[in-house]
Amino acid sequence: MTAGAGELLGLFPPGSTTDPDGMLRVGGCRLDDVAAAHGTPVLLVDDRAVRQRARDYAAQLAARWPDSQVLFASKAFPCTAVLRLMVEEGLGLDVAGGGEIVTAAAAGADPARLVLHGNAKTGEEIELALECGIGTVVVDNTDDIDRLEALVPRGRVQGCLVRVIPGVQASTYAAYATGHAGSKFGLAPDAARAAIARIAASPRLRMDGVHTHVGSQILDAAELAAAVAPVAALGDFGVYDLGGGLGCRYTYADHPAALAEYLDVLTGAAREHLPAGARIWIEPGRSMVAPYAVTVYRVTTVKPGETTFVAVDGGMGDNLEVALVGQRFEAAIAGRVGGGEPVTVVGRHCESGDVLSAGVPLPAPRVGDLLAVPVTGAYCYTMANNYNGARRIPVAFADGGSGRLVVRRERWAELLSRDV
Ligand code: LLP
Repeated sequence: MTAGAGELLGLFPPGSTTDPDGMLRVGGCRLDDVAAAHGTPVLLVDDRAVRQRARDYAAQLAARWPDSQVLFASKAFPCTAVLRLMVEEGLGLDVAGGGEIVTAAAAGADPARLVLHGNAKTGEEIELALECGIGTVVVDNTDDIDRLEALVPRGRVQGCLVRVIPGVQASTYAAYATGHAGSKFGLAPDAARAAIARIAASPRLRMDGVHTHVGSQILDAAELAAAVAPVAALGDFGVYDLGGGLGCRYTYADHPAALAEYLDVLTGAAREHLPAGARIWIEPGRSMVAPYAVTVYRVTTVKPGETTFVAVDGGMGDNLEVALVGQRFEAAIAGRVGGGEPVTVVGRHCESGDVLSAGVPLPAPRVGDLLAVPVTGAYCYTMANNYNGARRIPVAFADGGSGRLVVRRERWAELLSRDV
């Protein structure tokens, strides 16, 4: 799809511009300066924009439902610096498993404001959660209840939510849908009722409320709000955690609900179906971070032909979204934004599915150009891997200049560091 430079710039963090020489500037940083300082590929985060988004989320939810809390779904970007920023802005954290608990602790999170998720929690993870004094465990299955009853120390009472399958089929990638009957996450309503009764009767556990999550990258607010009535039908509780899922604009065809519209529709459904005194929690991940980061690559080869392949020095090692579900990303040559002929941007990995952007227009790409891919703030860092010996890429916060490194690039030696 062709688009003007303005429309393309609109996919980059707010305020992104081009300098008089054409170089793209994100969060006040020229991308050539960022690449010179930190190498490529590098994930540049407009941390001020993320901070503003966190504030907007908290303020706009509180304005509609005062007894509420926003928990950042840390799986979307579980880097200590990002979690610290969320904690500084007063958000709680959704943590899925032991590794995210450890990172949340390093970020200074209040354990009382951590919510533990997972459809396959191990005893080790539950022990870790209990040791750190986690506020809430989301019970996904009856084995979670068995483990909690065995592990919660005498004299302590662990707060629990029960994850309920709302029976909502959202229009998103099949792999991102979690609210439909038959999902591996949570309990169908009848099984949830039994779990709720068990927790309510347990001296070690406290039945705080219910949780639901419809899926991810959902553009239509009504689909997200459709889960409210089914969870309300389970009874009156103190807490209703309505999950995350709001989608983002990755490409020109995406028109996600704005934050205000999403929260209007969600709290509207809550007013209709939930008890007036209930607390509402939400767990945004993607929509909190995705639009506020850009990955900067170096073009390593240009292979002309029926399809012109523009290969860069990263790919599915730092962005699995395309290979995994076919998510579409746009791209720009950092020094010449907009225009050009369609090419296919591919990564350096030994897999034909290692495509970053098929048919993206780029103006006469050359070896050595910097290529900027926007909307990489969610689920890229977190799913980074070492395929083909790729070193996981650094993260820099954009604070003007060349950006401030918050996670360095993995070292070659670290690829061998677990050998015994
Ligand atoms: N709460 C729960 C229980 C979740 O499982 C998730 C995401 C969220 C909240 C946050 O949802 P969000 O606001 O980010 O849509 N691996 C995939 C992403 C799957 C989403 C996982 N769960 C990817 O490649 O993008």
